[in-house]
Amino acid sequence: MSNSSSPLLEVKNLKKYFKTPKGMLHAVDDVSFTIDRGRTLGVVGESGCGKSTTGRAILRIVEPTEGEILFDGEDIRSLGKDQMRRMRTRMQIIFQDPFSSLNPRKTVSETIAEPLKLNGIITDKGKRMERVAEIMEIVGLAERLYNAYPHELDGGRRQRIGIARALALNPQFIVCDEPVSALDVSIQAQILNLMDELQEKMGLTYMFITHDLSVVHYFADDIAVMYLGRLIEKAPAKELFRNPVHPYTQALLSAIPVPSIHNQRKRILLKGEITSPVDPKPGCRFASRCPYASSRCHSEEPQLKEIAPGHFNACFLNE
Ligand SMILES: Nc1ncnc2c1ncn2[C@@H]1O[C@H](COP(=O)(O)OP(=O)(O)OP(=O)(O)O)[C@@H](O)[C@H]1O
Ligand SMILES: [Mg+2]
Repeated sequence: MSNSSSPLLEVKNLKKYFKTPKGMLHAVDDVSFTIDRGRTLGVVGESGCGKSTTGRAILRIVEPTEGEILFDGEDIRSLGKDQMRRMRTRMQIIFQDPFSSLNPRKTVSETIAEPLKLNGIITDKGKRMERVAEIMEIVGLAERLYNAYPHELDGGRRQRIGIARALALNPQFIVCDEPVSALDVSIQAQILNLMDELQEKMGLTYMFITHDLSVVHYFADDIAVMYLGRLIEKAPAKELFRNPVHPYTQALLSAIPVPSIHNQRKRILLKGEITSPVDPKPGCRFASRCPYASSRCHSEEPQLKEIAPGHFNACFLNE
């Protein structure tokens, strides 16, 4: 099935709803996108808009409610448990907080060796440890840290362990869920450079989730903007920053400080109440805060449409 010219990942009409005491929470609601091989899709949007849930649903860490996920042409929602376990070696995730995702009682080398052992990739202990040493070198962890414990390391090194763990199985695709958000700015740059290098060397494809637009500007090829479970705009990164079309994207981008005062966009402050993601009413979910909303926006949901090559937008204003 694999075809090197097709996207590595195709997500079609993905939905993830959570049953809550108040009703059905639409965490991800009919989201479709593709990511080409070796590319990075940045996913941005306010807290709670469904970024992490989208990433987790793609890896089936949470089971999607509806939709199709094609990975390298294969419909992964139809895979059984064992097939999915094998598939997971090709799809990995890196988390925001490396500390809480690391077992405090395991050394660096044990932590990195674990996925190799659990997946039966390298059964011989000596060989496994050789591979661990190799990966440690790739991610820039000094050999002397082999028997160190997570609490003995700083945030940057801990995140290098998280990356090493994800790389151990030689994946093609990595969901990076706020991988640098918990780190000091100086260390953020080091980790981003490392991830960039690894992508180049190994041909990795990334879904890069962040709330930090300056990071994604630098790091992503394409950017997807989410709002309350919906994908509302997607475009190549440069295009999105030059020409944001959706009123929500415009407001989001206006909040980034620009070094030169002459180029500073006027900050758009959003008023109005945020719509509830629980049993959302018909209409655009942004309408309650949108300065341009018309009556149509309150009754009909705008769909994502291609308005220029590679530039998708879900808003009636620019149809
Ligand atoms: N297991 C769950 N059960 C119920 N609701 C959930 C669950 N996981 C996430 N949600 C809800 O789904 C919505 C989307 O959450 P998600 O964590 O995907 O957002 P996010 O964009 O990653 O936010 P953040 O930037 O804060 O990480 C939120 O309203 C959240 O409360
Ligand atoms: Mg999240």
